[in-house]
Amino acid sequence: MSDKDRQPTHPGKHKATRLVSGGRDPCAQHGFVNPPVYHASTVLYPTVADYLGHRGRYLYGRRGTPTSAALADALAGLEGPKCAGVALLPSGLAAASAALLSALRAGDHVLVTDSVYFPTRTFCDSVLSRCGITTTYYDPLIGSGIAELIAPNTKAVLVESPGSLSFEMQDVPAIAAAAHAKGAVMLMDNTWAGPLYFQALDKGIDLSIQSGTKYIGGHADVMLGTVSANAACWRSLHQLVETLGLCVGPDDMYLGLRGLRTLGVRLAQHQASGLKLARWLAARPEVLRVLHPALEDDPGHALWRRDYTGACGLFSTVLKPVSQAAVHAFLDALALFGIGVSWGGFESLAIPFDCAPLRTATTWAPGGPCIRFHIGLEDVDDLICDLERGFAALNAAR
Ligand SMILES: Cc1ncc(COP(=O)(O)O)c(C=O)c1O
Repeated sequence: MSDKDRQPTHPGKHKATRLVSGGRDPCAQHGFVNPPVYHASTVLYPTVADYLGHRGRYLYGRRGTPTSAALADALAGLEGPKCAGVALLPSGLAAASAALLSALRAGDHVLVTDSVYFPTRTFCDSVLSRCGITTTYYDPLIGSGIAELIAPNTKAVLVESPGSLSFEMQDVPAIAAAAHAKGAVMLMDNTWAGPLYFQALDKGIDLSIQSGTKYIGGHADVMLGTVSANAACWRSLHQLVETLGLCVGPDDMYLGLRGLRTLGVRLAQHQASGLKLARWLAARPEVLRVLHPALEDDPGHALWRRDYTGACGLFSTVLKPVSQAAVHAFLDALALFGIGVSWGGFESLAIPFDCAPLRTATTWAPGGPCIRFHIGLEDVDDLICDLERGFAALNAAR
C-alpha cells in the first residue's frame, strides 16, 4: 500500500512505540485492540457505477485487505519517511525474487554479493538468466571498489549485510553511492538487522528485503516476506507484485502483525543472549574464531558500529580443525539447540555449514569446520550447559 492509502495512525516517535501502535485503528473495529483477520476474495460494490469505476478502498482480496494494509502500514512506519510502500510476499525468497524482477529487464546486468543467501543466487542463475539478465558476483568486502564492476547495463546492485552464514559486513553507504552515481538501483537483504537495527532506506537502499519468516514472525510458525521501497522504486515493485498475483494468506499476515508487537523486546533479548554466548564461545579452547560483527575484534565491527544500532541472535563459529565425526557428535549432543535452518524464532538452533561450494568470486577458507548458531529466548546459563555437553561429546569423539 502507498502513503496516500494509509489509515490514520498515531505511531509515535520512537520505534518501540511504532511497533506497538503502527497499523492499528481501534475506532474502525469496534474498539478491539487488534484488527480482524479478513479471509477474503470477492469485494462487493454498492452499485454498478462503483464497480465500473473501481471505486472503493479495496477491490479484490488478492490486491489487499484491511489485514494486509495493517501489516504494511506498521512495517512502513518502522522504515521511516523515505518509505513509499511495503509489498508483502509469501516468503523471504519471494521478496528477494520480486524485488530483483521489479528492478531489472532483459539485457540488464546485476551485481550480487558472493555472500548472498544461496537460494537468491539460484534465482539469479536460473530465472534471471532465462530472462536475459546476467549476474556478476562480487567480494562482499569490495566497498566503493564496486564502481569498477559497474557496466553501462548494470541496473542493480544487491547487498546482504552481514552474510547470513559468513557474517562479512558490507560498506552499504559506499556501495550505494557508487551504484547511484551510475544510475543503478540498490537492493539489500536486511533480514539480519531489520529496520529496528539498520535503517536501510536512510543508508542508500532503494528496495529493502526482509524474510518476515524470521524475527517478524518470531515463532517458527509463519512464512512471510516483505520489500520496503522508496518513492523511486515503489511503483515498479507494486506493479510487479500485482501482475504476478503474489499475495499472502490472511492468517500469516496476522501472525506477522502480532509478531511485530513484541519484536523490540524479543530482538533485544536475542541480541543480549547472542552476545553473551558469542563471547563465551570465543573463550573456548575448541573455537578458532567467532563471526559476529558486534564483537570488538570482528573485522566488520567498525562498520557495524558506524551503521547499525543493534545485532540479532544469529552468528557463526569456526572450530579449530577437528574431524567431521566430532562436529556431528557436538551437534547431536545438544538438547536445547535444534538442528534446523530458519532462524529468528524463540528457539535456539545450530547447523554445520561450508560456504566453499557456494562461492564463485571469493575463496572461503576459514581454517576449520563452521557452525552457525541462532540464540533463542531460553535462559543463557541453560544454553551454556547444553554447549558444554556438546563440547564434551566433541572432545570424546576426536
Ligand atoms: C538472509 C536470508 N534471506 C532470505 C531468506 C529466505 O526467507 P524465507 O525462508 O522466508 O523464504 C532467508 C532464509 O533463511 C535468509 O536467511
